[in-house]
Amino acid sequence: MTDLALLGGPPVRTRPFQAWPQFDEAELGVLADVLNSLRWGGIHTGSQGESFETELAEYLQVPHATAVANGTAGLMIALRALDVRPGDEVVVPAMTYLATATAVSLLGGVPVFADIDPATHTITGSSLKAAISERTKAVIAVHLGGHPADMDGLGAIADAYGIPVVEDCAQSLGATWKGTQTGSLGAIGVFSFASTKNISAGEGGAVVTHDHELTERVAALRDHGRPLGRTAQHVELGWNLRLSEFQSAVLRVQLQRLERHLAAKAKGAAFLASALSSLPGLTPVPAALDPRVTAHGRFSFAFTFDGEAFSGEQTRSVTLRAFRTALQAEGIPVSARDLIACPDEPIYADISSRDYSRSRTASAEQARTACSTLVLLGQAAGSGLLLDEPTELTDVARAVQKIHENRHHLHQEQRQSARRRVSSDH
Ligand SMILES: Cc1ncc(COP(=O)(O)O)c(C=O)c1O
Repeated sequence: MTDLALLGGPPVRTRPFQAWPQFDEAELGVLADVLNSLRWGGIHTGSQGESFETELAEYLQVPHATAVANGTAGLMIALRALDVRPGDEVVVPAMTYLATATAVSLLGGVPVFADIDPATHTITGSSLKAAISERTKAVIAVHLGGHPADMDGLGAIADAYGIPVVEDCAQSLGATWKGTQTGSLGAIGVFSFASTKNISAGEGGAVVTHDHELTERVAALRDHGRPLGRTAQHVELGWNLRLSEFQSAVLRVQLQRLERHLAAKAKGAAFLASALSSLPGLTPVPAALDPRVTAHGRFSFAFTFDGEAFSGEQTRSVTLRAFRTALQAEGIPVSARDLIACPDEPIYADISSRDYSRSRTASAEQARTACSTLVLLGQAAGSGLLLDEPTELTDVARAVQKIHENRHHLHQEQRQSARRRVSSDH
């Protein structure tokens, strides 16, 4: 018999970890204020939007931030501001949230997939170099999970070829590279404030740059093509991708909590990294922090799962899916989604599907391996558990330990459910 929760035993943890997103009376108060002001956004705008932009720009140490409807919209605006046109190629990582690539496709551009560094899951200067062609218009560096990409290596190649670097900071608000905030390192940076992100208003985004001309184009592209402060004329073919006053007000409050959250998450992640790396088959990503990463955004805590090493002497190894399901049953919130490398997503893999599926894959081997071995904890799994104290997080290690001790039973269960699947197919 086994006491694995998946097979009917008592779970390691029944109390919830901290929730995500987080809020308190402050958000409730500002939402009521905006309601009462009758200045909710759009043409009836109040001061929340501008104040949020000023405060975000100050935090990131950039001259100006432009708040937008969401991160995908921010990427599209950034690419259009850099004059990405139909048929232009934009290099993107082969492993990222797909919106990095679809933002290119939605403008008629061609995403070119470049492989990731298995140690950090971000693209490198050499994978960028191998993906560049005469049609390359830009590269998007994604700071995946909150871990900054190697901006030195990428910057050197991008500069040599005269290609602007767009930073996709959807998951990295607060992360720093050699002391400088992500988003302010390349030509233009884009943030997302969706529910799982480091600050959130349910939806939202921002575009930041040091370049004044780019700022003006970004502002016009967000607002029907109207330049900042000149409301009568439409000078650019733009969208309405503005943020409401409710969202800006909530984000101002959330921004004040960011540094405290980052410090707590850094402590939680350090504890988990040391507790989990002593268990067989589990390797935190990254295994050790590059000293140039002066702050990690900690959108997620990621580790790779090696089923064979975890199973040891067993003939057949525990699958990633079985391991994840067993962990969830023990009360540990891990991401339930199977990850797919971008080139293998139907819209890009099935070239007969639609016109906008045009893409090119320079390399994706490491991305595919990472997708088939990765386990995600934290906000990526909709949980605030990294905010918890080590006394609580110890349950994560206890659950893994328990699954390891009972791996024979998990192995039998896998075999039986595979048999059940085969017989139900016939
Ligand atoms: C890496 C990355 N890029 C882009 C996006 C798109 O942001 P949004 O969901 O706000 O459109 C996300 C968010 O899910 C993301 O994680």
